[in-house]
Amino acid sequence: MNHLIAPSILASDFGNLKSEITMVNQSSADWFHLDVMDGIFVPNISFGIPVIKSIARYAQKPLDVHLMIINPENYIREFKIAGANILTVHYEACNHLHRTLQEIRSQNMKAGVAINPHTPVSCLKDIIHDIDLICIMSVNPGFGGQNFIERTYTKLQQLTKMKHAEKANFLIQIDGGVNNENSKKLIKLGANVLVAGSSVFKSKDPTHTIQLMKNQAI
Ligand code: DX5
Ligand code: ZN
Repeated sequence: MNHLIAPSILASDFGNLKSEITMVNQSSADWFHLDVMDGIFVPNISFGIPVIKSIARYAQKPLDVHLMIINPENYIREFKIAGANILTVHYEACNHLHRTLQEIRSQNMKAGVAINPHTPVSCLKDIIHDIDLICIMSVNPGFGGQNFIERTYTKLQQLTKMKHAEKANFLIQIDGGVNNENSKKLIKLGANVLVAGSSVFKSKDPTHTIQLMKNQAI
């Protein structure tokens, strides 16, 4: 399949959110990536449900909501009502991950699981068919603008291998430090969705940067 590009709104200009949304709408991006941080699971606070509701009013592409919060199972319906299409929770934040994923799917959203840099992909083997998207964090979650962790390539190879061996259907997403230097290699190794914050929004021409990332040939 062709890879998808999900610009991370965390790196956008919140003072001009509507025009940033319009830029993504008019670009060749596929999804909006929305990072929710609670100051507990990660050492930063971003935005929450009311902001997502506002974004949903103008966004013309699916909302990919990445929850970096503890107890995400308490808010599944609220995020659905706010407009989320894909809801990703952290492996490290869920005691009953299988149940949480089922609840996300029962609300007609795609169920995603993100894993921190220290978490091996093998942790997800037993629930591999219950997941629509696996997000390999290529930075420690909490902040945009960090450097890509090189070990991600190995994890991506392991996950791609596991996906084929298990004949599973989930999408593989890479989140953190993705740019036009590393995107080609990530796609080649099996990444389906590239999240890009700083490399898009801090570039001179975000629309063009998205287009370049989208055009990466294998
Ligand atoms: C990090 C977030 C990322 C972040 C990516 O905790 O999950 O989605 O916005 O930003 P960049 O692309 O700047 O690393
Ligand atoms: Zn994210």
